[in-house]
Amino acid sequence: MNLLPRLTVIGTGYLGATHAICMAVMGYEVIGVDVDPVKIEKLASGEVPFFEPGLPELLTKALETGRLRFTTSFAEAAEFGDVHFICVGTPQQKGSHAADLTYVEASVTSLAQHLTRRALVVGKSTVPVGTAARLARLIRSQAPAGDQVELAWNPEFLREGFAVDDTMRPDRMVFGVTSAWSEQMLRAAFEPVLAQGVPVKVTDLATAELVKVAANSFLATKISYINAMAEICEATGADVHDLAEALAYDERIGGKFLRPGLGFGGGCLPKDIRAFAHRAEELGVGQAVGFLREIDGINTRRRARTVDLVVELCGGDVAGKRIAALGAAFKPNSDDIRDAPALDVAATLARMGASVVVYDPAAMDNARRQHPELGYGENAIDAARDADVVVLLTEWTEFREIDPDAMAAVAAGRRIVDGRHALDPAQWRGAGWEYRALGRP
Ligand code: UGA
Repeated sequence: MNLLPRLTVIGTGYLGATHAICMAVMGYEVIGVDVDPVKIEKLASGEVPFFEPGLPELLTKALETGRLRFTTSFAEAAEFGDVHFICVGTPQQKGSHAADLTYVEASVTSLAQHLTRRALVVGKSTVPVGTAARLARLIRSQAPAGDQVELAWNPEFLREGFAVDDTMRPDRMVFGVTSAWSEQMLRAAFEPVLAQGVPVKVTDLATAELVKVAANSFLATKISYINAMAEICEATGADVHDLAEALAYDERIGGKFLRPGLGFGGGCLPKDIRAFAHRAEELGVGQAVGFLREIDGINTRRRARTVDLVVELCGGDVAGKRIAALGAAFKPNSDDIRDAPALDVAATLARMGASVVVYDPAAMDNARRQHPELGYGENAIDAARDADVVVLLTEWTEFREIDPDAMAAVAAGRRIVDGRHALDPAQWRGAGWEYRALGRP
C-alpha cells in the first residue's frame, strides 16, 4: 500500500486519546471519536482531559499539522477511515467480577451501521477471550459492506505515566488477525512504529485477547507475590525490602514489579484479573486461574494492614487523631484515582473517626470530587500540619525528597508509615521519626 491508511480512534479516554494523538504525530490522518461532546470539545481545542506527561505538547503539535480532528459522528468516522481502532473502556460490572462490554458493543454497532466499503476494525480494549470472534459476526451482520469489513485484535500495553513512550516505542506488538489482508493493513497502520524494529507477534483473535490479560495477571501476581512475602516478614521480623533486592539479582526473577508495599490499583490490573478469573469459570477452566483470587486477596489485605499500622502508631485508636495522607493517585505521574489504594486507606481512616488531610501533586480535583469527606492540603508540608501520623501512600518523587526536619517542624508527632517503601528509614529515624513500613522491622 503506497498511501498511509486513514485512521479513526473510537473512545478518547487514556488509551484512545493517546493513540489518536501519537498516530497523528507519526504522520497519519486521524479522527478521534467519542460520544462525550465535552471530551471532544476539550481535545479539539488542545486540552488533554487527564494528566499524562508529554501528551499536551503532542496534542498541540498534532492539531497544528491539521492531521488530527475530533468528532462525535460515527457516520463521519466511517466515511473517513480505512482502519478503525476501538479504544473504549471495559470496566468491572456492578455486582459482578465480569467485564462490562456495553461500551465495546455500542461503539462497534454504531460504527458498523455506517461502514459501506472495505475497512478494518481493530479492537484495542481489554476484553474477555472470545469477544472478538463474537464482534466479528456482529460487524458482518450490521455493516452494509458485510464481509468486506474485517476485525482484528491489537491489545494495548501502555502504562499511565509513560503512555506516549509506550505508544511510540512499544516493546512488542500483537496482531490478532484472520486474514493476510488484515495483517497487511495493521502493518501499514503501524509502519513508523515497526520501522524502529519493534517485534510483532501475529496470532489468532483469541490468543491476542489472551496476551493482554495474561500479561496483566502476571504483573499482578508478581506484585502480590512480594507482598505475600511481606506478610511472612511481618510475622518473623525479616525485611521484605532486602528480600526483594536479593531476589532481583536473579535475572530469571528480575526486580521489576517486585516492589513491596500497598499493592496495585488503577483502572486495569484489579478489574482485569477479576474479569479473567470470571471468564475462565465460564469456560469451565476456573481452576487454572483460581490463584488470581488469592492474588486479589493478598492485594486487598495490604490496604487493611496499612490502616492497622496507622492505628498502631496512633496508640490503638485513630478516632479524633489527625492523619496526613500523602498521595491519592493509584500511582505516581498520574491523576487517576480508579481503585486507588491510597484513597481507599485515607477513606477507611476517616470512617474510623480520624481527621484525614490528603495531598497529591496531580489528583486533587479527582480526589475531592470522589471523597468530599476528606480534608485537603496545599502541599505535603501543609497536609502534615498538626498531624499525629503521616502516611505515604503514593510514591511521588516530591515525597521522596521531603526533608524530615521540615516536616517534623509542623507535625504534632514524628510518626510516619511508609506505605510504598519510598523513604530512607535511616534518614527519617535519624531525624527522630518513628518510621514504619509494611514487611520491615
Ligand atoms: C498496567 C500495565 O502495567 C500495562 O502494561 C497495561 O497496558 C495497563 O495496565 C492496562 O491494562 O491498560 P497501569 O495500570 O498504568 O498499567 O499501571 P502499572 O504501572 O502497571 O501499576 C499498577 C499498580 O501496581 C500501581 O498501583 C502501582 O503502584 C502498583 N505496583 C507496581 C506495585 O505495587 N509494585 C510494583 O512493583 C509495581
